[in-house]
Amino acid sequence: MRLGEVINLFFMDCLGVNEKNNLTIGGADVAELAAQYGTPLYIMDEDKIRENCRVYKTAMEKYYGNGLVLYASKAFSCLHICRAAKEEGMGLDVVSGGELYTALKAGFPADYIYFHGNNKTEDELRLAVENNVGHIVVDNKYELELLNALAEERGGNVGVSFRIKPGIDAHTHDFIMTGQIDSKFGFALETGEAEEITRYAATLPHIDVTGVHCHIGSQIFDVAPFLLAAERMIDFIGDMKDKHGVLLTELNLGGGYGVKYLTDDDPVPYGAYIQSVADTVRAAAKKRNVAPPKLIMEPGRSITAPAGITVYTVGAVKEIPGVRTYVSVDGGMADNPRYIMYGAKYEALTVRNPEAERSKVVTIAGKCCESGDILIKDIAMPPLGPGDLVAVLTTGAYNYSMASNYNRIPRPAVVMVRGGKPSLAVRRESYDDIIKNDV
Ligand code: LLP
Repeated sequence: MRLGEVINLFFMDCLGVNEKNNLTIGGADVAELAAQYGTPLYIMDEDKIRENCRVYKTAMEKYYGNGLVLYASKAFSCLHICRAAKEEGMGLDVVSGGELYTALKAGFPADYIYFHGNNKTEDELRLAVENNVGHIVVDNKYELELLNALAEERGGNVGVSFRIKPGIDAHTHDFIMTGQIDSKFGFALETGEAEEITRYAATLPHIDVTGVHCHIGSQIFDVAPFLLAAERMIDFIGDMKDKHGVLLTELNLGGGYGVKYLTDDDPVPYGAYIQSVADTVRAAAKKRNVAPPKLIMEPGRSITAPAGITVYTVGAVKEIPGVRTYVSVDGGMADNPRYIMYGAKYEALTVRNPEAERSKVVTIAGKCCESGDILIKDIAMPPLGPGDLVAVLTTGAYNYSMASNYNRIPRPAVVMVRGGKPSLAVRRESYDDIIKNDV
């Protein structure tokens, strides 16, 4: 935010201000939640999360029909969100034994779980096979053969699709770009690897080949790379049919739709994304003379990021004349490592009087023993002092899920607000939790 500017409270449309002049999320008073649950605190508007699920789901039904939207639980996973995703009729993308276990414990139907990952261990695959997880997105040959053996041991078949690198350069941060050849994920199209593995899999007795998957990256604003990926994938489906008689009936185009972190960010509405992708897939399928596949999308960030904030209490304020002013808060890179990992940028509001004039440029710093532990560098904020509450916006994805105990800092609680009422989704860790596995 620039000096003197007043932030539009509906920057995140689940935020507002109440008669006490306090920030609200989903109608709940953020200062009261901070008093009740302590800080740092992740707060999510569950109604907004559910609305986001419906936007995708309705668009898929309206523009395509034969499709399924999975929530990519790596963005934010806990029992509560898995139950909510299930109630909203979403499928679920999991990428580890831990995410899978969480989903199963939440009662998520195994048929609707898609298991990803470039190095699933034998134990993880066993957990999936034993629980009849519907779809394994196979990343490599080692995994495929292991799966065939596990399925044989169990006396059944496993449904698989293949992670394909469509060779697309999506314009995002290098660390979250995944569709290009030089990526640890999946099989490349150009080199023939994708064709080879699909043909081979079709000869394995305990493998049912159902489809193909690609994920070109994350926080992407442009529709074009998704459309290009869809066309290339349909070409591949056509080639496999024409050359080898292998029918691939599912096309999973991954996630990656960008969200608004900064006032200038301008994401494409998600319904419009689905509409263009649906049109492209149908047209490409017609051109290649293949039946339009079942279409799968896996949004993570765009479901939860715009529904979450993190609330911190300000402690020390250090003004270095002529240099900068550090406003230190009671959290930081342990609950939000995205600045230190990707140089990610965020907006913030004061919880009391959020529309106050922003009269000073400060740097909001964390409390870890690390100079790079910054939440927001150079942001214009109203005057801040010890005890003030600050809300960092759009933190509903890849914050709690990437949090650590660095410096032995307990992870914050997660509160979900539904119909204006808060409920605890994840308890705050205690110091005893921190030492519970120490021997
Ligand atoms: N499907 C697959 C196979 C993925 O790898 C991912 C994200 C998604 C779906 C969901 O993508 P989304 O819709 O959330 O963009 N930690 C990074 C983001 C890593 C994304 C990894 N894969 C960050 O904080 O920006």
